[in-house]
Amino acid sequence: MKPDDLPPTTGWTLARRAERMNPSVIREILKVTERPGIISFAGGLPSPRTFPVAAFAEACEKVLRTDGQGALQYAASEGYRPLREAVARQLPWAVDPEQVLITTGSQQGLDLVAKVLIDSGSRVLVETPTYLGALQAFAPMEPEVVGVASDAEGVDVADLAARRGGARFFYVLPNFQNPTGRTMSEARREALVQTARELALPIVEDNPYGDLWFDAPPPAPLTARHPEGSIYLGSFSKVLAPGLRLGYLVAPPHVLPKLLQAKQAADLHSPGFNQRMVAEVLQDGFLERHVPTIRALYHAQRDAMLAAMEREMRGLGVQWNVPAGGMFLWARLPAGMDALALLPRAVERGVAFVPGAPFYAGEPDARTLRLSFVTSTTEQVATGIATLAATIRDNLPGT
Ligand SMILES: Cc1ncc(COP(=O)(O)O)c(C=O)c1O
Repeated sequence: MKPDDLPPTTGWTLARRAERMNPSVIREILKVTERPGIISFAGGLPSPRTFPVAAFAEACEKVLRTDGQGALQYAASEGYRPLREAVARQLPWAVDPEQVLITTGSQQGLDLVAKVLIDSGSRVLVETPTYLGALQAFAPMEPEVVGVASDAEGVDVADLAARRGGARFFYVLPNFQNPTGRTMSEARREALVQTARELALPIVEDNPYGDLWFDAPPPAPLTARHPEGSIYLGSFSKVLAPGLRLGYLVAPPHVLPKLLQAKQAADLHSPGFNQRMVAEVLQDGFLERHVPTIRALYHAQRDAMLAAMEREMRGLGVQWNVPAGGMFLWARLPAGMDALALLPRAVERGVAFVPGAPFYAGEPDARTLRLSFVTSTTEQVATGIATLAATIRDNLPGT
């Protein structure tokens, strides 16, 4: 008999918030797509071809040789000072390094924000659709999450004002959004900041993809326009490597101490070794040389997917956007189709994607789906999109 088969003798009572913790639909799907032979457009993983392994090997050796004891010791919760300074320097507005908190990925930033700003029943405003991982981070705090109408230019500011209520904050991804790949226009950013000021509505700006633009950089961040009213979340996951689990947040002086205390309780500090390695790698303008190579690769990958979509999906009634950066393309199936129902049929034929429904706080658009264009080869993109188109064709309503 295995221990799990024993009758329970202890009265474990789970907290109410535990009921709000659900497995990420995406992770469940990813398990299936790890099967050999599946072409997966489902994951949100950066291309491993972009990881600067040699630079890290060198930095690792140097950190251990010059500061091994410091790197392996407990450290301050705020983060390694030279890294906080490097973050402050690289952001496009005047940031005091004291306002920078190094986090264990920007996902931890979302968790800390949730703990510090959300009470049970608090209203939280999000775009439609929004990042699933944020919905997961907020859910245990028992908020009322309200989706704000959004279009190709980003959030509908009038709808935001209408839904303000007593919302604690508006969570927003202005650049190459996950899941839609869309970017908020300059006009919309200005209108949003003005409205946030008028309504005294705090903004939580999440920007892990902002550096991954293809033809031109996106407009300035919201936080650069309104630092006192915004918390900014950044990440090293998409420009260096996600396995480092390093991100950062920048918060106004009256909010930062609480975020810091929440972090102390969560994990004391993010790994000092990793922070030193990243600080080392960032020296001498490394990102200015490295990030353009990621942009070039992802740009070519996006073009390969757009060309395949054009070739295979035209005439099927499928719609899709043209993301100006990032990792994702957003598509919409013909009327009467449901992406969640289509997924097992696509996987059967060897291709996977993420249905859009889990990314909606409110009523989902069941026809939507997210396609990552960065982790497959261009040959796999061509084959995978052809397979997906054939699956759609064979499942069109009325066939
Ligand atoms: C919008 C968004 N925010 C935050 C994260 C978390 O990133 P990390 O914790 O690796 O910095 C992701 C990861 O995919 C993301 O897409």
